[in-house]
Amino acid sequence: MSQIKPVVPEPAAGTSSAVSVRGVSKTYQDVEALRNMSLEFPRGELTSLLGPSGCGKTTLLKIIAGLLEPSAGEVEVDGRKVTGPGPDRAFVFQDFALLPWANVLRNVAFGLELRGVARSERESIAERYISQVGLSGFEKKYPHQLSGGMRQRVGLARALSVDAQVLLLDEPFSAVDEQTRRKFQEDLLALVRHERKTFIFVTHSIEEAVYVSDQVAILLPRPSRVSEIIRPSSFRGKNVDNIRRDPEYLDIVDRIWASLRSYVE
Ligand SMILES: Nc1ncnc2c1ncn2[C@@H]1O[C@H](COP(=O)(O)OP(=O)(O)O)[C@@H](O)[C@H]1O
Ligand SMILES: [Mg+2]
Repeated sequence: MSQIKPVVPEPAAGTSSAVSVRGVSKTYQDVEALRNMSLEFPRGELTSLLGPSGCGKTTLLKIIAGLLEPSAGEVEVDGRKVTGPGPDRAFVFQDFALLPWANVLRNVAFGLELRGVARSERESIAERYISQVGLSGFEKKYPHQLSGGMRQRVGLARALSVDAQVLLLDEPFSAVDEQTRRKFQEDLLALVRHERKTFIFVTHSIEEAVYVSDQVAILLPRPSRVSEIIRPSSFRGKNVDNIRRDPEYLDIVDRIWASLRSYVE
């Protein structure tokens, strides 16, 4: 198998880790899903976890969320050890976990409702994020009246509304059509720049990972381990229309594919 060279091996100067994964292993009955995995997620950046299906991406996300206990190792968020779910982290699920009986506004505001935030305040916060994810005008619609892509946006707006510092997104674009996906990727880039939160984004699409990420962690399966960390740099901060034509973008996509192709059955 050809090894890809990291483009920039170290996190950029001045960044600090919001989330540290240290020596995490996870075994389900007899399946070793993660072995001794360590990863740093810099604050204010988007890191993609990229790897073939079954390589433990969802498992790692659930451990960071505190929904699953590691068999060994630990996760720290802002220097504090994760012992369970907390308001500092919000999970946007792969299958939209929306309330079917509530409209978009209530769904987005629901996390704040659970925290006892007064109605007018939570609705004004929800409105702000509904607009940021491009759903203005859909506040009174119910989940069944929305497309898959729109439902994903509701989930993302809900996660943003509770003001979690760490956003965990598990293949949020896998169920949407290509045009919606591209639009959503552009919006995600804008959100990362605007919100200064730490995004941990799971995808199995190489192009998507390189397009949206400050840092791409390439995971290899059986048992899952980090093979490479790549930090695309030259096209970050440029006009989104030019990214897919950027020579560095194309080069990184090619090299990641060269590394992953032997794992595709
Ligand atoms: N609850 C579970 N019980 C047993 N095995 C599991 C469970 N969840 C995941 N696995 C196994 O752990 C491995 C990693 O799964 P997962 O984290 O879902 O990978 P990914 O999200 O990268 O597709 C797979 O082999 C999967 O079959
Ligand atoms: Mg998964």
